[in-house]
Amino acid sequence: MTLPIAVCVSGRGSNLQALIDAIEQRRLDARIVLVACSRAGVPALDRAARAGIPSGVFPVTKATRSEAQAAMGQAIKGSGARLVVLAGYDRILADAFWDALGEVPVINIHPSLLPAFGGLNGMKVHQAVVAAGATESGATVHRAYRGKLDEGEILVQRRVPVSPRDTPETLADRVLAAEHDALVQAVGLFVPAAAS
Ligand code: GRF
Repeated sequence: MTLPIAVCVSGRGSNLQALIDAIEQRRLDARIVLVACSRAGVPALDRAARAGIPSGVFPVTKATRSEAQAAMGQAIKGSGARLVVLAGYDRILADAFWDALGEVPVINIHPSLLPAFGGLNGMKVHQAVVAAGATESGATVHRAYRGKLDEGEILVQRRVPVSPRDTPETLADRVLAAEHDALVQAVGLFVPAAAS
């Protein structure tokens, strides 16, 4: 049975694209019913438009985070999504979001092997991994819950090696490819089995 999902994004949207591609190639039995974005004018919105997916912008500023995210939660709920995927959504989710969303499960992709290097985001994760001299890193998809950051049951992890020659940028590229795989696999875990 096809799983209706909502995808929350903030920028480039390559993880969103990985889901779009997997669905188009029938590797993932899902349908993206809404792309919800925290910023106007970002590439993720173009990717949604090209794929014919409805999108909404819920601009988040310090003053408006709660209202914007409540509206985002209501829109997601109204879309009929049965899973919310945080795919590069770069804001902490206010209680008003969780209140609006109700029981719909939420998952998040993080570019490290959690619990290692949790609580950081974007390039800061890769800078910390390289600075620590770690020999491996990777991608983690986990359940996300109210009031928690980079915590929640781990659903899928993909490991990648880190070489002493890596810069945060070269590592980010390698981890990103692992993220795309891990995210498709993790969403697949929520696809209801077909009735027999
Ligand atoms: C990814 O590395 C994701 O793990 C992190 O932000 C980045 C988003 O990339 N939270 P994209 O927008 O999916 O290309």
